[in-house]
Amino acid sequence: MDKLVIEGGRRLEGTLEVSGAKNAALPILAATVLTKEKSVIRNVPLVADVLTMIKILRTIGAKVSQAADTVEVDPSGITDPTLTYKIVSTMRGSICLLGPLLARFGYAKVSFPGGCVIGPRPIDLHIKGMKALGAEVVLEHGYVHAKAKRLRGTRLYLGGAFGSSVLGTANVMMAAVLAQGRTIIDSAACEPEVVDLGNYLKKMGAKISGLGSPSIEIEGVRKLSGAQYSIISDRIEAGTYMIAAAMTKGDVTLRNMNLHMLGAMLDKLRDAGVQVTEKNGHVRVRRQRVLRPVSVTTLPYPGFPTDLQAQMMAFMCVVPGISVITEKIYPERFMHVSELNRMGANIMLEGHSAIVNGKKTLSGAPVMASDLRASAGLVLAGLVAEGSTEVSRVYHLDRGYEGLVGKLQKVGARIRREKDLR
Ligand code: EPU
Repeated sequence: MDKLVIEGGRRLEGTLEVSGAKNAALPILAATVLTKEKSVIRNVPLVADVLTMIKILRTIGAKVSQAADTVEVDPSGITDPTLTYKIVSTMRGSICLLGPLLARFGYAKVSFPGGCVIGPRPIDLHIKGMKALGAEVVLEHGYVHAKAKRLRGTRLYLGGAFGSSVLGTANVMMAAVLAQGRTIIDSAACEPEVVDLGNYLKKMGAKISGLGSPSIEIEGVRKLSGAQYSIISDRIEAGTYMIAAAMTKGDVTLRNMNLHMLGAMLDKLRDAGVQVTEKNGHVRVRRQRVLRPVSVTTLPYPGFPTDLQAQMMAFMCVVPGISVITEKIYPERFMHVSELNRMGANIMLEGHSAIVNGKKTLSGAPVMASDLRASAGLVLAGLVAEGSTEVSRVYHLDRGYEGLVGKLQKVGARIRREKDLR
């Protein structure tokens, strides 16, 4: 197992390229199975989760080739739409194959994904969606068996206790594109990754309107074709590096990013006193003065993303004064708190909120991350901490950040990857 060793205290300066969005790549690769024809997907980040999705597609019989950031999928050879526990347990995102497999084959058998370290991860909304489209769904021996000769369009409300569901919306949308008649999804997720999936489906021949709004309308078609598509850039990766630049009193320009997809975070960074400017599609992040504490509540898009909560908490740790984070998507997603406190932070949990008493600096320490974004938060803390920080279990970061070490080194961070011999 590898770890990252970071010598803190270096100012980040220079230019960074943002990769394609992991959370758009996963459902889009899943959607390639909706047809027998080949699709070519570009700007795909080569992160572990994407490689897992490619492996899953191959396991069920698709031919997949990959060169640089381009992935070609030939799904004509898929015969058995079954995802075993072994496959699904390695990546919860594989649940987004349920809708497309059911729509194309009239049957799908997908293992229940279970929970994960960021809290319970139910799939009731996915199942509700499939049932509403006319599928017969049976939960048996840890598997979801879904069956329908041809799905039927319907109007359904897809909101849950914590608002809309990103992959739930994606799954229902992918099932409805081949259904008979019209489907309207109310309380649909508005995340840019859902819009991106919808745009790819439209290129395949699907009829969809209302993308990016809470009401998506889909007119089912009989058949879809393969398509060429380039996915959007990763707003969470971009946001992570923007926060890193601000924390290190840096001056970093990010290329290939869409600032408007980070409106809520931008607003908070500016409130705190970070300078963010955009010119010719390049975003420059500078911090020249003392920052002010801010308070943040995570919410579905366009609210502040839960996937940037840990990174924002690391930021708050080095902004003197009291900042508060309230987590409204995954109320238990606070595993990074104890690790940040081990680095000298002063964070107190109060229900679903974290109260951060920011200081001037942190102190390097060996820390362990429990999930992808928590790991990113610890890396950011390490960049500003005095002395050396070791972040173990790097495989979490490998799941979602393409070339993290190289990118941070390029802008001046002292960070390296080593074998963890403990
Ligand atoms: N929920 C339900 N029932 C469901 C589905 C979800 O109650 O059937 C709840 C969840 O427990 C949560 C809330 O609804 O409280 C939102 O979950 P959502 O379904 O939107 O999450 P997801 O689609 O499973 C995606 C991202 C996550 C990201 C969330 C929220 C992918 C592959 N994953 O998950 O990304 O945190 O949306 O924005 O797109 C990450 O990249 O690190 C990551 C965890």
